[in-house]
Amino acid sequence: MKVFHKKAEARAFSMAERAAGRKTAFVPTMGALHEGHLSLVDKARELADTVIVSIFVNPTQFGPNEDFDKYPRTLDADIAACGNRGVAAVFAPSAEEMYPRGPQTVWVDVESLTDTLCGASRPGHFRGVATVVSKLFNIVQPDVAVFGEKDYQQALVIKRMAEELDFPVEIATAPTLREPDGLAMSSRNKMLTPENRAKAVAIFQALEKAKADTAAGRRDADAIRAEIAAAIESSGGKIDYVEIVDSETLRPLDAIGNEAVAAVAAKYGDVRLIDNATLRAPREPRN
Ligand code: PAJ
Repeated sequence: MKVFHKKAEARAFSMAERAAGRKTAFVPTMGALHEGHLSLVDKARELADTVIVSIFVNPTQFGPNEDFDKYPRTLDADIAACGNRGVAAVFAPSAEEMYPRGPQTVWVDVESLTDTLCGASRPGHFRGVATVVSKLFNIVQPDVAVFGEKDYQQALVIKRMAEELDFPVEIATAPTLREPDGLAMSSRNKMLTPENRAKAVAIFQALEKAKADTAAGRRDADAIRAEIAAAIESSGGKIDYVEIVDSETLRPLDAIGNEAVAAVAAKYGDVRLIDNATLRAPREPRN
């Protein structure tokens, strides 16, 4: 497996793969890789011949009081994990390599879909994500890129960006991988105290209950939303948001039609976790 730290090397590798007639798939990450990330690699291998993973803790998507400095960095282990999973090349640039001019002056700002959920609670976050993913797409120029449904809003924002800016890349998504107790795998789980790690499973349990209730015919979004929030609060989580939204527009719903997404962000200690679930109601009877 190749490891590149320079943009020019990563681009040359990717271009050579394409010239040799091989389809390339790209998995952007911030490292501290876990099985969730590696499941995206598996999907990428199904979709293409050559898989390229980027590992870059992107400063422009963190707010001033967020956890950029504390974000886990495990580059050697990440490279080993990629090597064992059939990745052809890892691109792990420095911040200077990605942002040589210092503060960014050109941004990709997806105005739709970002005034809600994580976009509302983390101002500037999606601008940082869309900008770095644009840069990475221009460096790697993949045929397909794979994103996790764990970051549901992010995947929608990237799809919209690729569509409206005509990036010649197909965006694929993959389901959320979970710990045995149901907690969504996340690089941030490493930052939880053992007590908070145990409590945080309440997020998954509350979402599962909402799924079961919806499947049984409940459609009252606001009551379901309030129950999810209460369950997380009583476990010791501090709610950032709990919303039940349309799966395409992310607008809050009063009543659940056939399908909705329940999206949660909550803090345990100072660790902010996100998760989501698709709620599916029984088909409405036709009159
Ligand atoms: P990061 O949080 O490292 O996530 C990288 C990719 O892994 C994202 O597409 C994310 O949705 C996916 N992922 C994370 N946890 C997952 C899980 N439990 N199951 C399945 N997939 C999971 O998302 C980012 O990095 C950054 O914002 C990035 C897109 C790299 C831009 O900097």
